Amino acid sequence: MTRRDDIELWDSEAAGFDEPADHGLRDPEVRAAWRELLLARLPPPPSRVADLGCGTGTLALLLAEAGHRVDGVDFSAQMLGRARAKADGFAAARDGTRFVVGDAADPPLRAASYDVVLCRHVLWAMPDPSAALRAWLELLVPGGRLVLVEGRWSNGGGLSAAETVALVRAAGRQASLTLLPQRRYWGREIDDERYVVVS
Ligand SMILES: C[S@@+](CC[C@H](N)C(=O)[O-])C[C@H]1O[C@@H](n2cnc3c(N)ncnc32)[C@H](O)[C@@H]1O
Repeated sequence: MTRRDDIELWDSEAAGFDEPADHGLRDPEVRAAWRELLLARLPPPPSRVADLGCGTGTLALLLAEAGHRVDGVDFSAQMLGRARAKADGFAAARDGTRFVVGDAADPPLRAASYDVVLCRHVLWAMPDPSAALRAWLELLVPGGRLVLVEGRWSNGGGLSAAETVALVRAAGRQASLTLLPQRRYWGREIDDERYVVVS
């Protein structure tokens, strides 16, 4: 598949993307679970967050509502259109977010400017995950944090926790792994491997 094919594929996913509970976070309990999970792993607000492969901006908006300033990057204009439309609904979200079209593998963001680089379900999609991780780490200020939510899904896609931890360690960073089997994050029981790695 070419990059253009990938963009078209994600564009075509945008209209229905928020339907699963963990995507749109429309269920208050699922939303509260992600809010608690992420805020516990970020510095106190306001911090500068780069949300790479931000999709429809659900996590960016959640963090902006908590007082963080979030720059979201995605190569799908359809995803970003939805992110901007959602941000327009809330003053805190609108003022605290900026959405930029770009390649997450080489984000069009200023180096050494972010307290946090957040990626949920994006590292697995990078053609060269090691190179992407190196580019993401360059965005961080000294002492900045990388927060990676990933999974090895029952459809065979994704990255195992061991693979993600190894990638982070190979980039010269420590990695702290928390498994996320609880249904409160997904709105249903799961039987595959989902997790967050903080570095
Ligand atoms: C599974 S979705 C996750 C969206 C969001 N992070 C979330 O958790 O709700 C993957 C997103 O990454 C984006 N994406 C995939 N590869 C990308 C790339 N190379 N550059 C920018 N965005 C990319 C897709 O357009 C899609 O919005």
